[in-house]
Amino acid sequence: MSTAGSLRGRDLLSGADLSRSEIDGLFELAADLKAEFRSSHGHAHPALAGRTLAMLFQKPSLRTRVTFEAGAAQLGGHAIYLTNEVVLGARESVRDVARNLERFVDAIVVRTGPHEVAVELAAQAAIPVINGLTLREHPCQALADLFTIRERFGGFEGVVLAFVGDGNNVYHSLVLLGAILGLEVRLAHPAGYAPNPRIVERAQALAAEHGGRIVFGRDPAEVVAGASVVYTDSWTSMGQEAEAEERRDAFRDYQVNAALLAIAGPDAIVMHCLPAHRGEEITSEVMDGPQSVIFDQSENRLHVQKALLVELIGVPDRAGPPATSQS
Ligand code: CP
Ligand code: NVA
Repeated sequence: MSTAGSLRGRDLLSGADLSRSEIDGLFELAADLKAEFRSSHGHAHPALAGRTLAMLFQKPSLRTRVTFEAGAAQLGGHAIYLTNEVVLGARESVRDVARNLERFVDAIVVRTGPHEVAVELAAQAAIPVINGLTLREHPCQALADLFTIRERFGGFEGVVLAFVGDGNNVYHSLVLLGAILGLEVRLAHPAGYAPNPRIVERAQALAAEHGGRIVFGRDPAEVVAGASVVYTDSWTSMGQEAEAEERRDAFRDYQVNAALLAIAGPDAIVMHCLPAHRGEEITSEVMDGPQSVIFDQSENRLHVQKALLVELIGVPDRAGPPATSQS
C-alpha cells in the first residue's frame, strides 16, 4: 500500500482544493485502508505513529469528531479534542492560536461557523488545516460521499446526483467535487435558499473543464427524475436555529420520501450527511429502506479521512524491496 504523501503539508478547506488525480489517489488509498481495516481490524503500517491532531470544534459533532479521533488512533496517532476552552478569536487571536498549535501538533481539524476563520487559521498555521465544517463548506463529508458513490457505481461516468433542499455547506462541497469528477449535479431548492453564487460560478468553471454539468430547479420531482443519487440534508443547519420555523415552511415540499424516490427509479441510491430530522427532510421509510446508503456514507468518513491524514502528515512506509548493499 502506498503511503506516499502527494498532498503532504497542504490544507483542505474547500472541495475545489484537490485536482482530479489527487482525488483519485486519495480514493485508492481509502479503498486500500478500508479493505485492510475490515479484514484485520488494524493496519500493518502505523502511518500516523507519533502524529498528533488538534481538533478545534466550535460546534457539536458525532461523525466528524469520532471518525477523525478513531482514525488517528487506528493508524497509531493521537487526536486532542478542544471545544469551549478555545473559542477562536475570543481568548486569543486566531493567529496566536495557529502560532501555538503549529509548535505542538502536526495538523488541525477545525469546525466553525465563518469560513473566513478557517481560512485565516490555515493562512497563519504552518501545518495542514482541515475544514471539519464551516457554514460555507464541508469537504470531508463530500469526499466520503463521492467515495461511496464510486463504490456503488464503480466510477462517476453518467452519475446524476440530485440534491433536494438547502443550497448549503454540504451542497457547496458536493457541487465543487462533483464538477471536478465530471458528474451532473442538480439542485432543487425553494426561493430564497439558493447556493452561494461565487461557489456556483467556480463549480460551473470546473464542470466545463472536467465534463460535469450543474443544473438548478424548483420542482423536486423534475430534478430527481432519472437521477442515480438522491441527496438531502437538514433544512436548518447548525447556527441557523432561530430560522427553524420559517425554514420548516419554506422546505415543506422538499422532503425525500417514497413518492419522490419512485420518480428517481429503482437503482437510485439515497444519501444524507446526517444528522437527520426524520419526518422533515427525509422519512424513516426512505432512510431505513433498501436504497439508502446513508450509514455507508457515515462509515466512509472514517476511511477517507484516514487516507487524507496519511497523505497530509503520514509517516513514509519504509517497507519495500531491500536496498542493494554496495561493498
Ligand atoms: N455529517 C457530519 O459531519 O456529522 P457530525 O456533525 O456529527 O460531525
Ligand atoms: N448542513 C449541516 C451539516 C451537518 C453535518 C449543518 O451545517 O449543520
